[in-house]
Amino acid sequence: MDNRPIGVFDSGLGGLTAVRELKKVLPQEDIVYFGDTGRVPYGGRSPKIILEYAKQDIAFLLSKNVKCIMAACGTVSSILPQELAQSLPVPFLGVVESTAKAAATATKNGHIGVIGTAATIRSQSYAQQLRKQLENCVISARACPMFVPLVENGYLGKGNPITTAIAKEYLQEMARQDIDTLILGCTHYPLIADIIGDVVGTKVTLIDPGRETAHRLREILQQKGLLGQNTGNTEYFVSDSVDSFRTISNRFLGEYAGGSVHQIDIDQFQLSFPCPQ
Ligand code: DGL
Repeated sequence: MDNRPIGVFDSGLGGLTAVRELKKVLPQEDIVYFGDTGRVPYGGRSPKIILEYAKQDIAFLLSKNVKCIMAACGTVSSILPQELAQSLPVPFLGVVESTAKAAATATKNGHIGVIGTAATIRSQSYAQQLRKQLENCVISARACPMFVPLVENGYLGKGNPITTAIAKEYLQEMARQDIDTLILGCTHYPLIADIIGDVVGTKVTLIDPGRETAHRLREILQQKGLLGQNTGNTEYFVSDSVDSFRTISNRFLGEYAGGSVHQIDIDQFQLSFPCPQ
């Protein structure tokens, strides 16, 4: 048993979709969440900058004495080198592998759509994992860079005209192809899954990275004897104003309901050991 909290981070609010799932599958775990709201979005930046930011996010969580770290961010999960993940003093889990596995299991016709940030799609991380799972699958991929700012600014809710118009622009062509499964390759996207679902159609199964990775994390903690027995407390940390975080996260996460939120200076945190690039 290990009663230290689980550390979760994202560039912003999207990782809360993973927190929501973690609270369902691991209700007795405490969680420390960091959202880098002062530097979101990550997805249009270069791999070098994303890696620098991710290292600081990890350093902050390690300073909170977490027992494991989940990168609830498709972009960081796509960029962070495996050697760096393995050099950390606690288990590290990204979202790509579990999400790709779930999609490979869900598809019937082997044609899978992948959407994500520009950095994620450019990295081909999901495509590589999908091919490991399902050698002959057909993949249709598309970067959707406007989705993250839309979510961060609260353009949510079925039928939202602005997000619907952008979703049509990004996804109508994919919807005309024969995909039967769509990976929401960025943790922000489940917050607009209703809008995305309306564009691609009800026959397409949407795969939520937070959900799949929360289940995988439970398996890992179980295997390593790291499960805890706590009250399920969550502490939130952000790098920008606490007020806007509270307003928007309350709007889409009913169960967020009032955990403490603190603003930190993320630039003060650096990994204190030399790590592989
Ligand atoms: N939630 C992040 C992801 O899963 C968004 C990245 C961004 O900030 O652009 O990729």
